[in-house]
Amino acid sequence: MDRRRFLVTSARLGSVLTAGSLLTATTALAQSASSSPKDAAMPEAQRSAGRKARVFITGSADGLGRAAARTLLSQGHEVMVHVRSQARVSAVTELLDQGATAAIGDLAYVAQIRDLARQVNALGRMDAVIHNAGVMSGPPLLVVNVVAPYLLTALIQRPQRLIYLSSSMHRGGRASLSGMDWTGRTSTGSYSDSKLFVTTLATAVARLWPDVYSNSVDPGWVPTRMGGPDAPDDLRLGHVTQEWLATSDDPEALSSGGYRYHQRRQEPDPAINDTGFQDQLLAELARATGTKLA
Ligand SMILES: NC(=O)c1ccc[n+]([C@@H]2O[C@H](COP(=O)([O-])OP(=O)(O)OC[C@H]3O[C@@H](n4cnc5c(N)ncnc54)[C@H](OP(=O)(O)O)[C@@H]3O)[C@@H](O)[C@H]2O)c1
Repeated sequence: MDRRRFLVTSARLGSVLTAGSLLTATTALAQSASSSPKDAAMPEAQRSAGRKARVFITGSADGLGRAAARTLLSQGHEVMVHVRSQARVSAVTELLDQGATAAIGDLAYVAQIRDLARQVNALGRMDAVIHNAGVMSGPPLLVVNVVAPYLLTALIQRPQRLIYLSSSMHRGGRASLSGMDWTGRTSTGSYSDSKLFVTTLATAVARLWPDVYSNSVDPGWVPTRMGGPDAPDDLRLGHVTQEWLATSDDPEALSSGGYRYHQRRQEPDPAINDTGFQDQLLAELARATGTKLA
């Protein structure tokens, strides 16, 4: 599909889905104004304090993003899911049927990342954004794993909570920006480098925007398409921390600048809390994209 037709089609699809699902979400909101007995039986990690949030999740066609969207919808939250193309909308039919709205954009392309931000802003301010989409390898790795969360952070109307998917593999990353190709034309940084960078971004945002709760999450090694069928960690625990940070009023969830695994705060690689490295990364991403984090 050529780019013009893609934009026209995605814009039309977005508005149709938006109108329909907003209605559904409003009804769900009204119905779930007080916590149900089912809510009361849930552990705190799975329960929000009754306040319904509006959450945007990147990469929700599969894996942890789709699982988080499914849980948040079942709890009555308003969810905007995201898929890479019109062809991938079929992967979220079940979520749309439950009231989700869909946004479309391939995060390997800067123009489509910018268009995605416009689609999100058209729906109004989100309470939380979960920067979940990620890839393990290939030339677009730095664009999908680092440039996209950076640009979406800069361009989407500032939410109260930001959650970035990290990985324990960030510890193998190099805190060096030299030689990185942020355009996606050539493979430069490794997956570990990309997770070190995006975790640094989360901490930098926490420092620069004190009115926002910005955190990163290591979901563990879990059996998704990326993790593979033999991954040893618990799949449910792989997305509960993101849901909790996005919606819970637990004082622990209302904190910023943390790197968490299974909800518990952990010490990340020291480079992540190095404000000099944070500033270098932000300057490099601003230079590469032409967009500064305000
Ligand atoms: N699974 C693990 O063990 C593990 C461990 C540590 C960290 N993580 C992190 O957790 C996050 C989610 O991983 P996962 O295991 O759920 O992976 P996954 O099952 O492979 O799902 C990745 C999601 O990202 C989307 N995505 C990838 N490239 C995209 C692009 N160019 N444009 C738009 N969407 C794109 C995929 O869409 P398509 O389905 O259309 O490709 C899919 O919805 C990632 O950031 C990953 O690095 C995972």
